[in-house]
Amino acid sequence: MTRTLVTALGVVVGLAVGSAAYAQDKAAVDKGMKVYAEQKCALCHSVAGKGMAKGPLDGVGAKLKAAEIREWITDPKAMTIKMKAERKPAMKEYKTLAKEDVDALVAYMLSLNKK
Ligand code: HEC
Repeated sequence: MTRTLVTALGVVVGLAVGSAAYAQDKAAVDKGMKVYAEQKCALCHSVAGKGMAKGPLDGVGAKLKAAEIREWITDPKAMTIKMKAERKPAMKEYKTLAKEDVDALVAYMLSLNKK
């Protein structure tokens, strides 16, 4: 009896933690979409056919790791060299972005994980 109760409790707690993490992810992704629009990333990139077609970001979440995406946003010059990116104009630097905004952009980019 006690064991069943403990198990049931474990399931309930597990579900609650899981959905809280999901809600947090979703909030970060939503915020990331906002930052993406505010920073006009679409001048050089497209998502789902909207924006600059030469720089599609669809599937980027499956292609790059979080750290690589972060580096693209915080140190695009280094990444342009490292990845041998040739498209012009080269990616702009976002030096004034708050850490939360960068975090949110990374969450959004990671959510673009389907081709
Ligand atoms: C002035 C043009 C420009 C702007 C503005 C720009 N980028 Fe980029 N970005 C590039 C170029 C060029 C590359 C190199 C890869 C390519 O050719 O698409 C790149 C690469 C990337 C990559 C790696 C893509 C891959 O497939 O490996 C990510 C992620 C990215 N940018 C995110 C962003 C985000 C987020 C913003 C807005 C905060 C942004 N970019 C704004 C030009 C731009």
